[in-house]
Amino acid sequence: MEKRTIFKYISVTICVLIVIAVIVVVVVYTRKVYPERSKLLIDNDAGGDDAMAIFLALLYEKYFDGPQLIALTTGNGNTNEDNVSRNNQRILKVAQRQDVPIYRGSKSSIVFTPESTNYFGKDGLGDVDEVITDLVPPQQQNAVDALISLSKKYEGELTVVTIGALTNVALAIKVDPGFLNRLAHLYIGAGHINGDNHPEPEFNAHVDVEAYHIVMQSATPDKVSVFPFSQTYAFLNFTKEWRLDVLGAIDTDIMRAQNQYERIAIPQEDGWAALDPSVVAAVINPNLVEEYKYSKYDIILCGDKRGINTNEFVEQDKANVRIVYKVNSEEYKQFLLDVFSAELKTKSGS
Ligand SMILES: *[C@@H]1O[C@H](CO)[C@@H](O)[C@H](O)[C@H]1NC(C)=O
Ligand SMILES: *[C@@H]1O[C@H](CO)[C@@H](O)[C@H](O)[C@H]1NC(C)=O
Repeated sequence: MEKRTIFKYISVTICVLIVIAVIVVVVVYTRKVYPERSKLLIDNDAGGDDAMAIFLALLYEKYFDGPQLIALTTGNGNTNEDNVSRNNQRILKVAQRQDVPIYRGSKSSIVFTPESTNYFGKDGLGDVDEVITDLVPPQQQNAVDALISLSKKYEGELTVVTIGALTNVALAIKVDPGFLNRLAHLYIGAGHINGDNHPEPEFNAHVDVEAYHIVMQSATPDKVSVFPFSQTYAFLNFTKEWRLDVLGAIDTDIMRAQNQYERIAIPQEDGWAALDPSVVAAVINPNLVEEYKYSKYDIILCGDKRGINTNEFVEQDKANVRIVYKVNSEEYKQFLLDVFSAELKTKSGS
């Protein structure tokens, strides 16, 4: 080869390398500055504890660049679906986030609908006597259609969290068997794992036992995680004093509303252990999770043990779900305090 040709060859190569390097730097930089926000949908039966979970997601989105809450879907559970839908409107109003669409879902369970326990009051949010105006109405599209269409619109990016019964998700799976596969992940806040300590069915699981079984039949551990209430009791059960005098003392409209929503439920227990916010916390801040386990997991449909979960810890390739087994108790407490007080710090800091 002639010397000139070699020089030309080398300089072209260098130019190409420089162009590639610039592209890589630009891509890495823009990803850092504008990271893709993952999308979150919360299926709920609000419910005082659902309210805390929804507030947590909205505050984490706003003050900590957390996942974007793109929708709420409703179902029967803590109270009937009419009340749940209205409660979702009320929660979004308090959070000043009525831009988040609400899609209304199941009015009853697939086979058998247990009666409401009024644990959080008849209206599900503490039966506070107040006049509430300017609520933004829910969407026309129903929750099951919305779950399916949003899973298509945000294929691979959408995380669905259920903190009520599994009716809507079970119906979505039946209508569209590709539903679960299009999700980034499905997190289920329902069920128990240690039957010895928990001989009764877990509430969310027992509201729609058939729906729970349908979801477990379709679950794979890469797509579905279960956060059992037994694990909240085991690791995230705090004193009522902490709930009322420390967390509850945060001086914001959101915490004041939250205290009202739980005012009927809190006195009924010895401690304070709320499943729904612990599930959302584990989803939006996975650093809180200290241990996952894989399980062959399901629910008993018939007989005295209807609603009781069956659980066998196995290797991932034999499992149908991943279990959120252990969450760091102290870090979780601090997380709740940090997120619920974030708006105060922003106000005083600026
Ligand atoms: C819904 O809320 C109203 C009060 O707003 C209450 O009277 C009614 O009993 C609730 N429904 C159910 C099923 O709890
Ligand atoms: C939760 O903690 C309280 C004390 O704060 C205790 O009395 C109660 O038994 C605990 N509940 C469970 C289910 O462990």
